[in-house]
Amino acid sequence: MDAHPTGNQWDWIYATRALDAVGWFEPDPSNSHELVAEAVALGGRSIIDVGGGASRLVDQFLELPLERIAVLDISEAGLAHARHRLGARADAVEWIVGDVVSVDDVGEFDIWHDRAAFHFLLEEADRRRYVRLAERTVRIGGRAIIATFADDGPERCSGMPVRRYEPADLAAECGPGFRLIDSRRYVHHTPAGVAQSFQYSTLERVARATGHDAGS
Ligand SMILES: C[S@@+](CC[C@H](N)C(=O)[O-])C[C@H]1O[C@@H](n2cnc3c(N)ncnc32)[C@H](O)[C@@H]1O
Repeated sequence: MDAHPTGNQWDWIYATRALDAVGWFEPDPSNSHELVAEAVALGGRSIIDVGGGASRLVDQFLELPLERIAVLDISEAGLAHARHRLGARADAVEWIVGDVVSVDDVGEFDIWHDRAAFHFLLEEADRRRYVRLAERTVRIGGRAIIATFADDGPERCSGMPVRRYEPADLAAECGPGFRLIDSRRYVHHTPAGVAQSFQYSTLERVARATGHDAGS
């Protein structure tokens, strides 16, 4: 797929492609829902979905006993699809248009969820910025649920190169502020029928002894 020459490529994708035809589309994001519901059952009351785009996961958040729900995405067009789908219920959600590697502050949340956004960060400096935001955002004892293509997953997503992870690699990227507590693999079938290996990692936000981000 050609990149949009000037604008936000994600806005261009969301504006030009059918939502239920993009490779990452899930009619029912059941893995994410299950892992989020587990964190809610343990007391989590606030959640931010990072790179949530037009995902139907936010519809499921609205059925959980959550007091604060936010969806952050670089694409206003992606978020607009979700808002439109939810109608009046969209008012119960904070919609944050921003690049996860440059957003300064989104407040504090109990749960951070990301399916298929982190794996687009190819530059180490961007991954560090992502992790620093996650550290600032997730309260100690809270959880980050991060799904990426697994090591045997595709090398590209929507034409863009990605990094693939095993849970241990992802935990290493997240540094000492997070502790891997659970992981699962899942084979996603795209609307075109292509199998894609994902890994879902659940990490607990822990107090860290050393400065992982010192100097950057
Ligand atoms: C593959 S889609 C996954 C969407 C959604 N999480 C899902 O599972 O359906 C990746 C999403 O991440 C968003 N995204 C990509 N890079 C981003 C960035 N640097 N900051 C915030 N969002 C980003 C895209 O706009 C898109 O909505």
